[in-house]
Amino acid sequence: RTVYVNGEYLPEEDAKISIFDRGFLMADGVYEVTSVLGGKLLDFDGHSARLERSLKELDMAAPATGDELLAIHRELVARNDIVDGMIYLQVTRGSAGDRDFAFPDPAKTPSSLVLFTQSKPGLANNPAAKTGLKIITIDDIRWGRRDIKTVQLLYPSMGKMMAKKAGVDDAWMVEDGFVTEGTSNNAYIVKGNTIITRALSNDILHGITRAAVLRFAREAQMEVVERSFTVDEAKAADEAFITSASAFVMPVVEIDGAPIGTGTPGHVATRLREIYLDESL
Ligand code: PDD
Repeated sequence: RTVYVNGEYLPEEDAKISIFDRGFLMADGVYEVTSVLGGKLLDFDGHSARLERSLKELDMAAPATGDELLAIHRELVARNDIVDGMIYLQVTRGSAGDRDFAFPDPAKTPSSLVLFTQSKPGLANNPAAKTGLKIITIDDIRWGRRDIKTVQLLYPSMGKMMAKKAGVDDAWMVEDGFVTEGTSNNAYIVKGNTIITRALSNDILHGITRAAVLRFAREAQMEVVERSFTVDEAKAADEAFITSASAFVMPVVEIDGAPIGTGTPGHVATRLREIYLDESL
């Protein structure tokens, strides 16, 4: 595999980052995941805009312009023959050398930019879309700036492990009784014909797939309400689903052991998945 590190395309085994990089020592970095379907990048502009915002919120210098990032994405897709898969991009703050809590001067310390691809043949035909996901709910104990897409992913990883231990696929996180989001996706329920999902704030990541799916839903005359919902409300809903750049739209059929609706993928989720994939391909 050919990867990109700070201006160079290299075989992955030759790619190197300093052990003093603050991304490694302090999770001082941000990332984006962009899917590729049929060789085409999905929602690149949205991911690029969110990256710019994450960098700005953390006073981190942008390592490249949006156009340069697009060119790197395309080059990696070509060099690695990616038909279906994803591109991972990470920017970390670099390091002035010694470990220090204070940020180094960005004029003297360049940030690090790393990208790599993962091939996932048949990504759009994930069989989980036919069976749906089972999830558990767990406390959301993350920090208060979940709108910034940082590489601090330890708690979401622990959440995935809790789900695995419980014999299910994923976990939704809950704060003050209300669902925030999934470990790596946004969370939705459907009541009648109304799609309900938490409103944007610093409590959740502003999903790029969320924005696209809500736009498509409104264009298809579906009702969308952006508000918080409780776990009990989710369990009593007609449908539930998640969205993310890598899962697209994925139905949820069970929450904490309780079947949602008929316990099979709902038609709103299934239709939104079809619309999203149709518009993307
Ligand atoms: N995760 N919420 C969280 C906590 C996420 O980590 C993600 C994405 C989303 C969905 O955002 P988007 O639609 O822009 O992918 C919501 C990515 C896919 C990941 O970490 O792999």
